[in-house]
Amino acid sequence: MMKDTLHLKAPGNWINDPNGFIYYRGEYHLFYQHFPYAPRWGTMHWGHAVSRDLVHWEHQGVALFPTKSYDQNGVFSGSAMEVDGKLRLYFSAVRYLAANPEDIHCADGDAFVTSQAMIVSPDGKTFDNFGQKRQIIPVLEDAAIGDAKDTRDPKVWKTKDGYAMILGSTGPDQTGRALIFHSTDGEHWSYQNQYRSPAFGKMLECPDLFEVDGQWVLVGSPMGARRTGVQYYDQAKCAPVAFEEETGTLSLQGDFRILDDGRDFYAPQTTLDEEGRRVMIAWMRMPRPVETSADGRGAWNGMMTLPRVLHWKDGWLYTSVHPAVDALFTKPVALQDVAFDKPFRLKAKLSEGDALNVCGYRIRVENGCIAGDRSDVFDGIEGYSLTAKTPAVEGTTAALDIFVDSHVIEIYIDGGWHVLSHVIYGAKPVLEGAFDSVWTMDGEV
Ligand code: FRU
Repeated sequence: MMKDTLHLKAPGNWINDPNGFIYYRGEYHLFYQHFPYAPRWGTMHWGHAVSRDLVHWEHQGVALFPTKSYDQNGVFSGSAMEVDGKLRLYFSAVRYLAANPEDIHCADGDAFVTSQAMIVSPDGKTFDNFGQKRQIIPVLEDAAIGDAKDTRDPKVWKTKDGYAMILGSTGPDQTGRALIFHSTDGEHWSYQNQYRSPAFGKMLECPDLFEVDGQWVLVGSPMGARRTGVQYYDQAKCAPVAFEEETGTLSLQGDFRILDDGRDFYAPQTTLDEEGRRVMIAWMRMPRPVETSADGRGAWNGMMTLPRVLHWKDGWLYTSVHPAVDALFTKPVALQDVAFDKPFRLKAKLSEGDALNVCGYRIRVENGCIAGDRSDVFDGIEGYSLTAKTPAVEGTTAALDIFVDSHVIEIYIDGGWHVLSHVIYGAKPVLEGAFDSVWTMDGEV
């Protein structure tokens, strides 16, 4: 089976959202939206990868695929839960009203309906797509609750007296909604409550709701969150909320903010790691496939971010790099000895006017903000933003922790106060600037 170290990449063809992220029987399982036939989006399957440490991944092939009339056109995003030692996967099941006659992987006129379904795996290794799936929430018929087409991405968790589910949806007013369902057994669900917000754009995708350091946080990916003339309009956001499990009541306790300043980042999902830390992984969107790769995966499109640990501190959600990533970079090297064909890590402290060149990717401090510029490492691809920046940093210097892999750069600023991640194409073997330290990975890539 194909392996990935550091960033989990499509094993070939296409991936998007992380799904069913869970620590189960001593291993991390990360499923993902997968189209196995071409490096573009199409009829969704769940691909599957496992890891012992969140940074060495082994692809396991396809776990879920369409088998039922209700999921015949796609097994959309969802989550995982362990119940009685078994692995339950919750997903959105898509059925097109008609397929596009020239491209059966897309709905004709974008007309489809969505229900929610689950499958039980006895061991996280075998998935009986024919015998073990069941529909748990039928297509919504009451528009006052949510949309028959656009209601999806169940995130499920255990509550004091049962189970809760949050779903993304929209309504006749074209405003995004988060729906809360409740269940005593995780199988029979009833609608409980909802929360609407203009911050959810025209439709909310991939919501996640959890408590970290005593604060409830809502994470979600609203469609149409941003209007600038360049991609991407859909952006992942987070906000502190109050949540009452008994009634499923959500209320905002602060502002929504964009989770990653680079804006390729989308559809994050969290879980608890082995030590009980809240860990998040998101999809890094790529505007075009990588056509060749040395390891035989063929053309591929899409990868995951590094695992990030979430902390609520001083009224702010910090997303810092997971200790498993730290444990990987144990070898300090001299700048001139960096091997550009392997991932590496750079640390630097920057003040106003300072600049770095990392493989052709430029990092600068401009008016107190950390700015990233991929103009020289984006292969002339048009229609996407080339530059991005954080808000102004407090104090005069910012500590940058930079991770470089073949098609992605992640910059963690001041211990995860902000993160700026960018997809890049055509990285060059260049490193310029004042770095405090440079690190390569210990062991095999
Ligand atoms: C987000 C999303 C989800 C959906 C899935 C389909 O990227 O649109 O809402 O379940 O991707 O692949």
